[in-house]
Amino acid sequence: MNSKGKILVTGGTGYIGSHTVVELLNENYEVAIVDNLSNSDEGVLDKIREITGVKPEFCQLDLCDKDDLQEFFAKNRDIDSVIHFAAYKAVGESTKKPLKYYRNNLVSTINLLECMIDHKVTNIVFSSSCTVYGQPDQLPVDETAPVKEPLSPYGNTKQTNERVIQYTIEAGNPIKGISLRYFNPIGAHPSAKIGEIPRGVPNNLVPYITQTAIGIRDELKVFGNDYNTPDGTPIRDYINVVDLAKAHVAAIARLIDNKNKTAYEYFNLGTGRGNTVLEVIHAFERATGKKLNYKIVGRRPGDVEQVYADTSYANKELGWKAEKTLEETLRSAWEFEKAYRDKN
Ligand code: NAD
Ligand code: WQD
Repeated sequence: MNSKGKILVTGGTGYIGSHTVVELLNENYEVAIVDNLSNSDEGVLDKIREITGVKPEFCQLDLCDKDDLQEFFAKNRDIDSVIHFAAYKAVGESTKKPLKYYRNNLVSTINLLECMIDHKVTNIVFSSSCTVYGQPDQLPVDETAPVKEPLSPYGNTKQTNERVIQYTIEAGNPIKGISLRYFNPIGAHPSAKIGEIPRGVPNNLVPYITQTAIGIRDELKVFGNDYNTPDGTPIRDYINVVDLAKAHVAAIARLIDNKNKTAYEYFNLGTGRGNTVLEVIHAFERATGKKLNYKIVGRRPGDVEQVYADTSYANKELGWKAEKTLEETLRSAWEFEKAYRDKN
């Protein structure tokens, strides 16, 4: 089968990157991954091969090292497009070490854009986040909603990177971009070979749930039940990571086929449904038959009350829709947790 093009995936051994590489390979794109392995493991490459039959090209490289990145582009002249996942993502850590986050997340994007321009690579898909909306004034939130005051240095790097790409394009550089604003990605590949592997204590809800269910954590703390929601716990839009990965393939196809309406576009990637924390816990219990030990504690600073996506623009323009149910997705997270702990 002829390749549809060669895609550079930065951060491609990470959680969302690895699932996206699988979907790109399934759709006959060639893939080259660059990652510095600061939050992932090279072993993921063999798992991708087990799933797809193809081991993607891999280069261990820090995007903050411009010379190394220039050399990479000089040696890989067949790259058409970039999907840029590489970043630090721990919101809490970013408030304690803001410069670490600003340096890594901004310098990497600047280096990447400069190298793309130098080497005439025109297409970029950028990993953004619903955090740019803060607590939206209207729900569900669509792409026309204003970007709000950042909730953390991490969130500010997402907003700033979006601007960096926008201004680079508006200045007349030959680049087209799509910013994908993820809501809450969860779950794992149905093969249970790849999934989310947090280093240390998880910050996010679903890895904390699966680690509690398997006995690594004693109990899940539910951060607040005094919000203005049906059961008092916050509402999020939890999207299956494979559904999310497929949206990246659609975004790349849109850039390659020149179907974009403007040189820089933004899309919300969610399910359009909001679920409370307690609903997620109970869906996990139903999906897996495991009882979860949890306790209500105080609010976590910086948490918004509720956010879920209006996905109609992505549905229409990308021809993409999240398909998996919450229970199915939570079951996939659990199957991955069990498979991973069996082997590690
Ligand atoms: P991840 O940490 O699993 O993957 C990121 C990868 O980037 C890791 O493999 C890490 O080693 C690599 N990396 C980091 N800095 C690098 C650098 N300077 N050079 C080369 N490689 C580097 O995270 P993820 O959950 O897969 O997230 C991917 C992207 O999506 C990130 O940009 C993140 O901010 C964004 N995002 C994630 C979520 C989420 O909840 N997971 C939500 C919204 C947006
Ligand atoms: C979800 C809900 C918590 C853990 C973060 C980033 C955001 C985006 C996605 C990257 C909240 C509650 C959690 C726990 C709990 N990332 N919770 N006990 O906060 O929506 O978003 O990840 O861009 O920018 O801020 O996700 O999974 O941390 O929390 O009660 O142990 O679960 O309070 O209501 P969040 P999360």
